[in-house]
Amino acid sequence: MATIKAVRGTRDLLPPETALWNHVEATARAVFARYGFGEIRTPVFEVTELFARGVGEETDIVSKEMYTWEDRGRTESDKGQSLTLRPENTAGVVRAYIEHKMAETGMLEKLFYIGPQFRRERPQRGRYRQFWQIGAEVLGPPWSGSDSALRDAEVLEMLATLLNELGVKGWRLALNSVGSAEDRAKYSAALREALQPVKHKMCEDNQRRAETNPLRVLDSKEPGDQEIINALPKISEFWSEDSRTHFDQVKAALDACGVAYVEEPRLVRGLDYYTRTTFEFTVPDGSGLGTQNALLGGGRYDGLSEMLGGPKAPGIGFAIGEDRLILTLQAQAAAAEPKKLDAFIAPMGVSQNAGALKLAQDLRRAGLTVEVGDGSFRLKKSFEAADKLARKMVIFGEDEASSGILTVKDFAAGEQTKVPCAELVAMLKG
Ligand code: HAM
Repeated sequence: MATIKAVRGTRDLLPPETALWNHVEATARAVFARYGFGEIRTPVFEVTELFARGVGEETDIVSKEMYTWEDRGRTESDKGQSLTLRPENTAGVVRAYIEHKMAETGMLEKLFYIGPQFRRERPQRGRYRQFWQIGAEVLGPPWSGSDSALRDAEVLEMLATLLNELGVKGWRLALNSVGSAEDRAKYSAALREALQPVKHKMCEDNQRRAETNPLRVLDSKEPGDQEIINALPKISEFWSEDSRTHFDQVKAALDACGVAYVEEPRLVRGLDYYTRTTFEFTVPDGSGLGTQNALLGGGRYDGLSEMLGGPKAPGIGFAIGEDRLILTLQAQAAAAEPKKLDAFIAPMGVSQNAGALKLAQDLRRAGLTVEVGDGSFRLKKSFEAADKLARKMVIFGEDEASSGILTVKDFAAGEQTKVPCAELVAMLKG
């Protein structure tokens, strides 16, 4: 009988790896608590319209990647509702914020979540159809200070702290502002105009977006369209004085806290709700993510609550791709494995122990890291111990002692060579 496997793009998380997941989540919870965040848990599915309105019809997420189904009605005449597995959690959090009238407290809400999200993307390393996000949102009525640049900088500083506490190495914060809703409208119009004469050269999706939502053209990964995309106007040319000031304040606060960032004028992010600050943290190549090097992303969404029929409640938030964070930590831990010793000296027989120790003394004095086996070890045991501990093994037997020619095994190269004693230090360093 054919066995049943996990669905493509989903995976089982097993021990011992789950211990790392728990460690990451516990660290995130501890850091979030220090910044005054409380946990929110929203349903895994919502009405489809929430994402269509919140994330945007023309985004890749909504137009291509959602798991949507018509829910069965209770009776024949009761038409079923369209429901969707959440592709992200910000829209759900803001829906809950509105539904529970959280704005009425007049306070700033600081909420975090940890949970699975679903997108029907092409699976590859670091990209799954069920993946996990650790995210947080800060929102409130304008008089709670929710649209202050201080909040943006606080969220970014918290992220830097969390990544550092987890030991993520080499992260890079890319920062931009997509301007206010008005700036974006002007920018959209300018993009539409700039795309008019060239759009016929672009892929079908981009031709459509050039009309319906030109900002989304900027997210396109279509290789043939990049030249046109690179030549398009930049959002910074359309910032109002207020948007520019807000962005300057975010940067000044980050500078004050010593959080490094790189300005990236084309970082618009693939969701429609963003206004003003947008950001992404990436990790360097070789951190286990392949081409999916965005560890997390986020930004401000000053109009989202109103787009969902709620009160004015500016906000900012982020979501970390937890799967990607785990892959990064695993790859970086492997790379940081204790460096192997330069040499393991294997005396051939107990009578060679003293000479082997003398050789180790010489090598250590020359600055090499060395371990000595024992003459009572069988050759196989020496090989095994040496392979675990050191890059190379030096065989020290009666012949070697008398001739001054040593046999050196290089484990990485899988080679065994004869080396005169005088050349040994240079050879072991190489
Ligand atoms: P996003 O950029 O769509 O933003 O996703 C955030 C992070 O989730 C990405 O940077 C990535 O690490 C991870 N991620 C996305 N798709 C996948 C996937 N298929 N497999 C594995 N990891 C994935 C949002 O979701 C916004 N809600 C973030 C936000 C919160 N903005 C404001 N508040």
